[in-house]
Amino acid sequence: AKTDANAAKRAAGEAAAALVESGMRLGLGTGSTTAYAIEALGRRVREEGLDIAGVPTSFAAERLARQHGVPLLSLDDLGLDTIAPEAHALDLAMDGADEVSPSFDLTKGRGAAQVREKVVAALAARFVVLIDPSKDVDRLGSRMPIPVEVLPMAEPAVSRSLRGLGAEPTLRMGQSKDGPVVTDQGLWVLDAHFADGIADPEPLATAIDGLPGVLGHGLFIGMTSDVLVGLPDGSVEHRT
Ligand code: A5P
Repeated sequence: AKTDANAAKRAAGEAAAALVESGMRLGLGTGSTTAYAIEALGRRVREEGLDIAGVPTSFAAERLARQHGVPLLSLDDLGLDTIAPEAHALDLAMDGADEVSPSFDLTKGRGAAQVREKVVAALAARFVVLIDPSKDVDRLGSRMPIPVEVLPMAEPAVSRSLRGLGAEPTLRMGQSKDGPVVTDQGLWVLDAHFADGIADPEPLATAIDGLPGVLGHGLFIGMTSDVLVGLPDGSVEHRT
């Protein structure tokens, strides 16, 4: 099953890299599926002289891009006058997801990179999501909790607010270290579990964004342009 999933992820990643044209400014996502896209982009840079540069969504994505020879850009290099998405500072952003709903809304953040991922996705004219079929859900929150990045001093109060919104929050703990997971921003992650999934994600997303002490969360509403679903036989379903 693991090799099937890897073949599917590779197919999605390579299909994403094939969408890229010389001159594009990219968003480089985080996770095991996008890793295949970054690898394939590096190959195209070497073999075809593809002229691209990408903004990484995490330290992990930055490191991977360096390893594979994908040129990097910082947000600052883009010379933005505003952080407003209308600027379309990036041509195309690609990233994985933990859940994809029928209306292309997403849960992200298994890798705790959701806030930088959202900034980068929001700046892209086209946001392409790369998944294998296990990520398809009818309702967001049914398979994964919603990650909420929080200021450590505000964590107890934010936890109580999330309970008020119908969630059961748990503080994400390290796997190879004692204590909470610390994000690339030095903050903590609350995983907000919804027993029956989320009936209406948009107002929930707005409510969580409004809690003081919350930097951001993993619900991506109305941002996705394309979904590339890699299948275990190496084929790809392109949904738009
Ligand atoms: C990182 O924080 C996440 O949002 C990932 O993009 C997401 O978990 C998908 O990762 P995989 O491609 O490894 O499943």
